[in-house]
Order: sequence, then structure tokens, then C-alpha cells
Amino acid sequence: MGTHKHVSFGIICCLLNYLIATSVKKTFDEVTTVAMQMQGYSPDRGDDYVAFSMHAPNGYIVEFEPLSDASRVHHMLLYGCEEPASDAGFWRGHDTCRGSTHILYAWARNAPSLKLPKNVGFPVGEASPSIKYLVLQVHYATPFQGRVKDFSGINLHISSVRPNNFADVLLFSSGEPIPPNQEAYFTNMSCTYNGNVKLHPFAFRTHTHKMGRTVSAYLKHDNKWTEIGKRNPQWPQLFQKIEKPLEINGNDLLAATCRFESTGKNEMTEMGHMGSSEMCNFYMMFYRDADAEDPFPNGAFCSDYASREVAIREYPVEGTQILPKHPEWEEQAKQAEITFGVIEKNSVTKIGKNKLGQISGLSFDKNGNLVVFQRGSRVWNQYSYDYNNILIDKTTIQEPTILIVDTRGNEMKLLQELGQDLFYMPHGIFVDDSNYIYVTDVGSHQVHKLKIVDGKLKVIFSIGEKFVPGNDREHFCKPTAVAVSKADGSIYISDGYCNNRVLKFTKDGRYVTEFGQGSAYQNDLTLGSFNLPHDISIDDANSKIYVADRENGRVQVFNMDGTPIYDIKKSDIFSNVYSAHYCPNHGLFFIPGIAKGKIPDFGYVVPHNRSLFEYAFGPKSVDFKLPHIIRARGNNVFIGEISDGQGLLWKFEIETDNLLKDSSERIANGANFDDKVSSIHLEGTPSSSGNLVLFAMLTFIIVASAYFGYKKFKAKKTIHAPAFFDKSGFQPLSTDDHSDDEMA
Ligand SMILES: *[C@@H]1O[C@H](CO)[C@@H](O)[C@H](O)[C@H]1NC(C)=O
Repeated sequence: MGTHKHVSFGIICCLLNYLIATSVKKTFDEVTTVAMQMQGYSPDRGDDYVAFSMHAPNGYIVEFEPLSDASRVHHMLLYGCEEPASDAGFWRGHDTCRGSTHILYAWARNAPSLKLPKNVGFPVGEASPSIKYLVLQVHYATPFQGRVKDFSGINLHISSVRPNNFADVLLFSSGEPIPPNQEAYFTNMSCTYNGNVKLHPFAFRTHTHKMGRTVSAYLKHDNKWTEIGKRNPQWPQLFQKIEKPLEINGNDLLAATCRFESTGKNEMTEMGHMGSSEMCNFYMMFYRDADAEDPFPNGAFCSDYASREVAIREYPVEGTQILPKHPEWEEQAKQAEITFGVIEKNSVTKIGKNKLGQISGLSFDKNGNLVVFQRGSRVWNQYSYDYNNILIDKTTIQEPTILIVDTRGNEMKLLQELGQDLFYMPHGIFVDDSNYIYVTDVGSHQVHKLKIVDGKLKVIFSIGEKFVPGNDREHFCKPTAVAVSKADGSIYISDGYCNNRVLKFTKDGRYVTEFGQGSAYQNDLTLGSFNLPHDISIDDANSKIYVADRENGRVQVFNMDGTPIYDIKKSDIFSNVYSAHYCPNHGLFFIPGIAKGKIPDFGYVVPHNRSLFEYAFGPKSVDFKLPHIIRARGNNVFIGEISDGQGLLWKFEIETDNLLKDSSERIANGANFDDKVSSIHLEGTPSSSGNLVLFAMLTFIIVASAYFGYKKFKAKKTIHAPAFFDKSGFQPLSTDDHSDDEMA
């Protein structure tokens, strides 16, 4: 049985778990994360401004991690308020705060995370005299295409340790209109700093709409002008690091200028929120001694004209000039031309002459064709197995179970049909780069590697003993899914309905190792514990394994050696996850199988390296019934259903000009002040987009509220029995593909 080996593996696994939990505690325990996210909002008009509030958590914000994408959201602004502008919790319009107002963070155009310098934080909640609420304003430029729910927001990293320096943002803004037909028109702001404590600007951001050309700010101290920052506002808008140390003393003059070009305009352009209006903003992020009196208890703003003549006469010319071209950034910052959406393209119950049975698996062959694994006339129901997990009907399915489909056109075009008289209860499928086909058969408890030879499937090898369930190296029990690593051809198998483990085999089918264990009790969400690992997918570029931990309602993310890293879950929205697939162009896609709560079955999308999903999509025509499998390639997403013994195959198309070669590109480092090589890496796209089409007011459902208390990467230190060899976990406790409600 190899029990000894398994037990020692168990110890290694748990030791590792323990070490991870401990190191997380030591290094990061004082930092928790709080996600402020929209809760499935669908904008229904152009220039839709919405905001929501939450009680400020207590502590010091040390990092802002944006959870959005320029193709969906035009900008987000985070405010610290004495009181929110509305008691509603969520509201529409431009209002943000009542009473004192602090800007904490601004995001647009795929700006990356902003991590503050060491020993600097924004005090909030009890740590601050005036910031009692956080308000996030989200500006959607256009409604989405299709049925999309947005979960954009900001993940706040909050430290409980009081830093020596407090951060704040001073906003320069001009309300002056811009006259038409000016090659270069300047709006100016200037203020005298009256405080006693020194200010140290360390990052800045500029913002205008389409007519802005250069935005700059300077300080004048002892008759000497020093640049705070300057930037072309058409470049991706992020907080850029200020390289040299600066200080602002009492009585220093602060001045800022926006340069606009209004050629081709026939009338005045007002300052305002709409895409067709303009803005002139310079955000100066600074820190000051935490023990000193707050020089801006009501918020730091400058839209004055202090010493106006001096400021205009002396303002450094470099601050008003056009900056040298930066083609890469300009390219990234191009206007988003496509309206974001996920569009239902097709849904079929038949491919060629094949009426689809339950679609259990999907994959893509090396030519990009869709490969469908389906059960034909066979249906998995409560009569399929005996109490020892042994299949009752031991005859093969006679119809073709594997269909190779060209999905490029409007119809699903059958290219090849295979897999007659071979399988008993199809489940998972994977096609590798050499067009080897791997399948799991939950009927025979086997995994097969196959090749197409002369139009027929030839078995290269099989793992698992036919019809004999088990939990050792030679036996599976209803193995659910298979994925193959590009790096070395290793085969990863999730096993499955009765065991709770993932096994690794070499490319020629030799056992290497396994990881995972059964959850020790209900809702045991310890990392590494499974309750029905149902699907598996590999992110080769970043060496990660994703496992749909079905009945635990989450996706778990592992290193290639099986060390759990984090999970993705949200139990108030879904309680199970049937399928998960990593697609390099967009990140992780996953889908629950059975609807729960407010938001029925949607496919969810999590960008690379994130633990929070950012949007969800579903069909417009009808709801999903029992989606079982999701696979994405390029901008296409396919979903297979198993409802009522009848298969339904969906094709969706993601409309975005933000298709990435690999989405890890997007998450390149932000203004990370902890790193020596601080990378103000620029990404993303445009400045303003001004869709002024106001859509008819539809009823809209607001499901937004702050989502509080998500603690990132925090392994629970629960000690639990290594249940993966517990015989009690080896009963037919699960479950058919069908709803648990129907099944004993
Ligand atoms: C703003 O300042 C510049 C000098 O930097 C000056 O040329 C321009 O006329 C000023 N603009 C306005 C509207 O006063």
C-alpha cells in the first residue's frame, strides 16, 4: 500500500504548512489587507460615477493594490473622510465626503500597485483624527457589452505599527476654463505653505483629459525654484516616484501649471468631470513627522493664486514645455477603442451529427481547436456506482466521446470525432503541445495518455487499475482532471471524488509524488486541504498549479512542488467551484457549478497573481444551469454544461483591447519604495474617454458594499489529522456531478 511513504509525505507537508504559517506571521503579521471592491456592479450609462463608503479600519495604509483594469474602469479615487457624502453606503454621482476630505490614492490606466516608503503610512480610523470613513469613487466611462458584473476596487495593505511618518496627498487643481484654438494655454495655481512641519514629497501623479500636454509643480524656497514633478498626462497615469529627496518648509511657495492644447475647439472648455470637459490636477504625495501637528487637518488642496505675479513671472520654463516623446508609453496610453464586454457568441447542443451528452471536459489542441470530452448517451446519476465506488454498467460508451471542433466561425464546426467504445464515464481532458490527449475516466478509475493514429485513438499508457478504486500509487478513485506541465511533461492528476489529493507522474507515467489531504472537518479551509479537487490547471510561465477545490468553494494555488500559496474564495457569493483554468492572456477563470445567493452562476476572472476576482460574466439569454467546465484561449471562453443529461456548449468572447501577451506583464512593479531598483514601470492605456451618450435610465440593482477583512495569504495554523488516508474519507460521500441536494 505504500502507507509508510504516504505518512512521511504527510509529515513533510504539514511541517511545510507550519513553516509557512509561521513565516507569514513573523514577517507580515502586522499588515492585513482590506479589499474595497464593487460588489458586482454593471454600469448602465456613459460616465457613470459611483461611490461607496466603509468605516475606516484602524491602522496605517502602507500599500495600495489596485484591482481593476483600464478597459473596464476609467479611474478610481480613494478618499479619507470625516463622514461620507451619503448615508446610503453606495451612491451615484460625484459626491465623496462631508467634512474634512483627504485624497489618499488615485488610479487610472492600469497603474500598478503603490507601496509607500519604509516607515511611512496613511493613518486611518482610530489612528487619525479626521479619517473615519473611506470612500472609493469609481468612474466607468461606458457600460459593458454583454452581462458583466464588476468587482473593481483597491486592496489596502494596513499596518498596525505606527510609522514615524504620516503620508498625505496635496491636490493642485485649477477650475479655469480653457479658451478655444490655443496651441498652448496654461492654467496656474499657487499657494504658500503655512505649516510648521517639513513636508517631504515622494510621489506625484498628473491628470487631465485629452487636451492636457504637460503638468508640473515646483516649490520656491529661499528664492530658488525646485521641481516637484512633471509629466505628460497622456502617459499612463500613476504615482511616479520623486527620485531626489525634497523638503517643503513653512512660507515656501508651491506652484503648479497645466499646459493645454485647444486647437480645433470652437468654444470654451470648462473644467469638469465629463469626458468632454477638462481637468488640471497635480497630486503631490508627501510625508511628514507623525508626531508633529497635522498641517492639513481638513485636507490638502491648492487651487489658489498666492503671489500670482511672482509665480507666473518666475515659473521655471522647463515646467511648461512639451516633454520628449516616449513612444512606448504613448502607445500604452492610447485611447481604449473597444468597449469592454463579454459577449455570448454561441451555445450548442449538437456538433456535427453528435447530440451532446454531459460535457465534462474541454481543452485545446495544438492548432487551437476546441476538444470536447462528453458522455454521449451515458448519464452520471445515483445509480451509476455501488457503495464501493464501483461502476455498475461496465460497458463502454459507443458514440464518439471526443469531438475536435473548429470554433473560429459562427458555428461550431466538427473536424474530427473520436473515442468510441473506449470510455465509461468521461471526466477530465487535456491536450499537450504535441497533441497527446490525456483523459480521466471516473468510471474505470483510470487516466489514459492517448494519441491520434490514423484517425483513431491509440492508448499510449494508462495509470490506475481498471474498475478498481483505491488510494495508493497505482490506484485512483474517480480521478477528476489532468494537466501536463510544459516544462518537463509531468502529469498532474486531481483525485478526486473519494480521495483528496493531487498526484504527479513523469511524462511516461511513473509516480513522483502527491500532495493535499482531505479537509479534517466541514469548512476546513486550511491551505492544502481539499474537499473534492475537481479540476486542475497549470500556469507554466509562473510555475503555479490551480486546483478547483469544489466543495470547499475555492480555487487553491500551489507551487509546482505542491506547496500551497493562497486561495481564492468568497463564500457569500458562491459555495462551490467546479472548474478553474489559467489563461495567460487574462489570468484565472473559474466557475461554480450550482448557483448560490444573489449572483447566480457566473464565470469569474482573476488577473494573474491576484487572490481577488475582478469581474464576472454570464449569458444574457438564459442563466447557466449546471456548468461543469471552463476553458479560455485568447479572447474566447468556452463553458460546458452537464444539465439534465444534456450537454450545452457555450462560446463567449471577451471584448477588450487589453489582450496581453501574458498578463504577468501588467503586474510589473509599481512605485515600490522598498526596493532599491524602484521601478516606475508604466503600463496601461489612455487618458480620458468621453462617452457622453447617456443611456436611458434602467432599473439598476446596487449590490455594492465594502468587502471587509480579507486577510491575504494567511494560513490558518489549525493542526489537523492528515485525513487523506483516513478510510472514512474513502466512502462515496460525494456526489455525482449533479447537485448535492439531489444526492444522498
Ligand atoms: C500661467 O503661467 C504662465 C507662465 O508659466 C503664463 O505664461 C500664463 O499666461 C499663465 N496663465 C494664465 C491664464 O495666467
